Amino acid sequence: MTPRKIIIDTDPGQDDAVAILMALASPEAFDILGIVAVAGNVGLKQNAINALKVVELSGRTEIPVYAGCDKPMKRTLVTAEHVHGDTGLNGPDLPEPQLKLQEQHGVDFIIETLRQSIEDNITLCTLGPLTNIATAFEKAPDIVENIEEIIMMGGGYFQGGNITPVAEFNIYVDPHAADIVMRSGVPVTMASLDVTHKVLSTKARIDAFFNVGTKSATAVGEMLAFSERFDLEKYKWQGAPLHDPCVIAYLLQPELFTGRQCNVQVETQSELTMGMTVADYWNITDNPKNVNFLDNVDDIGYFELIKNCLLRLP
Ligand code: RIB
Ligand code: CA
Repeated sequence: MTPRKIIIDTDPGQDDAVAILMALASPEAFDILGIVAVAGNVGLKQNAINALKVVELSGRTEIPVYAGCDKPMKRTLVTAEHVHGDTGLNGPDLPEPQLKLQEQHGVDFIIETLRQSIEDNITLCTLGPLTNIATAFEKAPDIVENIEEIIMMGGGYFQGGNITPVAEFNIYVDPHAADIVMRSGVPVTMASLDVTHKVLSTKARIDAFFNVGTKSATAVGEMLAFSERFDLEKYKWQGAPLHDPCVIAYLLQPELFTGRQCNVQVETQSELTMGMTVADYWNITDNPKNVNFLDNVDDIGYFELIKNCLLRLP
């Protein structure tokens, strides 16, 4: 099978890091054209450093890392140090990266790469706010036709929100960007809180990562043992939701997930519901069914997949 060409857009974030490591561990499945950092969990500069740290941890130092947008399209940046720690990747003591960022702006990299992909289209894997993607669409509308699909972590419907009562963080940070992506006509698969709240990093699952015994898996265990504390306190569940790896897991083993095609729109007007993703899950309207809205997941298979990916890394 020819590896799928992907670009990963991310705001690492411990859960982003796990998703990125899964992709880096799967060269037979993914031809990773680049990793692009975006402002989100913490500021852009630190997110980009974190992405370099994760690439170095994996040993796949040939994968280029770019810095994209440092603030949302219209709103003031909201970050999540309260969840991810002051560095955004608290937990393991990872060395300052030797790797350097690419000079090119991440948005220009996305545009140039998509324009050059004549034969096989490219899949965008988005793990953070959609600022880079929407900015690229605004700057170069022609690139939309060269996108195979967008697999995104973001949104929520039945599960509500996690940064406001109705909005999930990635969408809330840049709702205007999310609105542009939802209206773009590009096929979107959405791993929202409705599915990520069903994949909880319980103690046994984190212990299983530690028991792999490698540097990468131990770092993942340390990451999740740090980032879980906020969600455990908030939800009182047996584990914290492990959001972003759903994007890579869906591409590696789509059979782990179920979902339905339905219309999803983003609130960009009301402050009360800003960033809410309104999913017409019961198809009450005739609005275009623009999103493959994931609604269930085999959580046992999901964590087994993550562990198997980690087993392939140093
Ligand atoms: O709401 C969860 C999302 O926000 C995840 O992508 C996490 O990394 C944060 O960016
Ligand atoms: Ca993220």
